[in-house]
Amino acid sequence: MRKNIKDDIDHILLTEEQIKTAVKELAGKIDEYYGNHDSRLLLLGILKGSVVFMGDLMKQISIPVEIDFMKVSSYGSGTASAGSVNIILDLYRKDLSNTEILVVEDIIDSGKTLNYLVGYLKLKGAKSVRTCTLLDKPERREVDFNTDWYCFRIPNEFVVGYGLDFDEKYRALPYIGVLKPEIYN
Ligand code: IMP
Ligand code: MG
Repeated sequence: MRKNIKDDIDHILLTEEQIKTAVKELAGKIDEYYGNHDSRLLLLGILKGSVVFMGDLMKQISIPVEIDFMKVSSYGSGTASAGSVNIILDLYRKDLSNTEILVVEDIIDSGKTLNYLVGYLKLKGAKSVRTCTLLDKPERREVDFNTDWYCFRIPNEFVVGYGLDFDEKYRALPYIGVLKPEIYN
């Protein structure tokens, strides 16, 4: 018999209900901010961590949106930042001059991923590039990067669930939790 992934969780940091409320609130801000713009709005999810957030967020947005995904390198099997950013799956669009991109990220840690991606997408010719994240760990910042919108600021703790993984596991948990210390060892 395989174990229940919930048994590896030490404590829940953010409940399903808290996340749901925050996602709805963010969708309202996106509706409000982009509502009177004429350009196309592209929600650009960063794989794989943002998939759950992206799925829930897009359902709460009322204005017309398009979706796409990019995949960039992130952590290996551990919990320490990899450092450099590699594009594994790129965004292919002929012309971005009438497209406003809203990058949808799971968590901002060092800030290196989004700092790099925003510059990259601007170079590709997007009309605007903004970012939203479910979680922000401001204490961990290594580059000067601020997100346009976030749902939660959290302390410097490694978290899993709602798309976020440790060693590719725990993404399917419906909440954000902290693993039992023995799981890392
Ligand atoms: P950054 O470039 O250091 O900001 O890295 C952001 C990426 O690191 C996120 O998209 C996650 O994939 C990963 N990451 C950072 N902190 C955590 C965490 O606490 N749990 C799971 N993944 C994390
Ligand atoms: Mg990620």
